[in-house]
Amino acid sequence: MKRFLSIEELREKAQSSVPKMFFDYCESGSWDEESLNKNISDLKNIQFKPRVVRNLSNRKIKINLLGEEFGMPIGLSPCGLTGMQHADGEIHAAKAAEKFQIPFTLSTMSIVSIEELAKNVSREFWFQLYVMKDRKLTNDLMARAKAVGCKTLVLTVDLQVLGIRYKDVKNGLSTPPKLTIKTLLDLALKPKWAFQIAKTKNKTFGNLKPYITNVSNLNSLSSWINEQFDESLSWDDIKKFRDLWPGKLIIKGIMAPEDAEQATSMGADALIISNHGGRQLDGCASSVSALMEIRNNLSNRQISLLFDGGIRNGKDVLRVRALGATMGMIGRPYLYGLGAGGESGVIRALEILQEQLDRTMALCGHRDINSVDRSILKSN
Ligand SMILES: Cc1cc2nc3c(=O)[nH]c(=O)nc-3n(C[C@H](O)[C@H](O)[C@H](O)COP(=O)(O)O)c2cc1C
Repeated sequence: MKRFLSIEELREKAQSSVPKMFFDYCESGSWDEESLNKNISDLKNIQFKPRVVRNLSNRKIKINLLGEEFGMPIGLSPCGLTGMQHADGEIHAAKAAEKFQIPFTLSTMSIVSIEELAKNVSREFWFQLYVMKDRKLTNDLMARAKAVGCKTLVLTVDLQVLGIRYKDVKNGLSTPPKLTIKTLLDLALKPKWAFQIAKTKNKTFGNLKPYITNVSNLNSLSSWINEQFDESLSWDDIKKFRDLWPGKLIIKGIMAPEDAEQATSMGADALIISNHGGRQLDGCASSVSALMEIRNNLSNRQISLLFDGGIRNGKDVLRVRALGATMGMIGRPYLYGLGAGGESGVIRALEILQEQLDRTMALCGHRDINSVDRSILKSN
């Protein structure tokens, strides 16, 4: 995989390896993709200030978050259908994360189930929970995560109503893929992908399978899933989840300072500043502009802010660290690696980001990531 030098090169390889329906699912943002594009361009617009003649030997990018040490300030965000970018994708991505001592977050909408992932990895992973109308189901998912040893719950709060992605509608996205002439042709062009998917038993929503009843075909499966999200979610509910979950609670999908205050007062241990990778409210600000606003205004200065949305280079991880995020999380960059080459592809994506982060930090005049602050950025 060493021939791939950037996340963009892994993206191109993934595009030629993964069926269009699933590559598009990974790639798209909602509606006109304004927020998806802004996530990337706003990060790129933040400029560094080069510093020279500094001792740059023995550099360190390890960090502490919520009482734990991580190999670098990068984490893998939860992504639904990861096991459709590559067979058993969640296992491959979690194993890669393990090598770098960084967190992997398993989505509620994963293909590989909580239990199956736990059997295949030795490091604890984080579990991401969507709040479903059926609270028994939601509580059951939480109990299953706890039973396999998850100590960190990532509660996603920005998906009460689904953002619409045109490409998914056009492609008739379904899991496993519905066999139309169009999908059969696409699968024929991606034989390696199809062969690996044929071999694994993990082909549909691993976590939700036990609860799916009276669903006879793929169309009714996606309607069933879409109907599960709870449109009436309230902060009282969030408080109940806080009380029920004994471990660390991270609330994901915060973009407004008011919501950041509220989430903090509910007893969250950390927040993820995120617009869901531009897949929910199109036309909202970029994640990085929300990070700046929230970090400047949040009354609790101690709470850890994590970040995701638009990171495509280690430079971006340094930018968000400088702006007060403890960890820069990634979604698409690791999915591209996965599509390009399974576990080795995710390892390559992480090597690329790690190297870029370390080198950028050094060129900004620092040798310890923990000493980096806003002073590394050019003031306007
Ligand atoms: C294909 C895909 C599936 C996603 N599924 C979920 C999910 O199941 N749960 C969730 O909280 N966020 C989900 N997200 C959002 C990511 O966790 C993350 O917020 C986003 O990808 C970050 O932006 P980036 O892709 O630019 O790094 C998904 C994102 C993508 C690209």
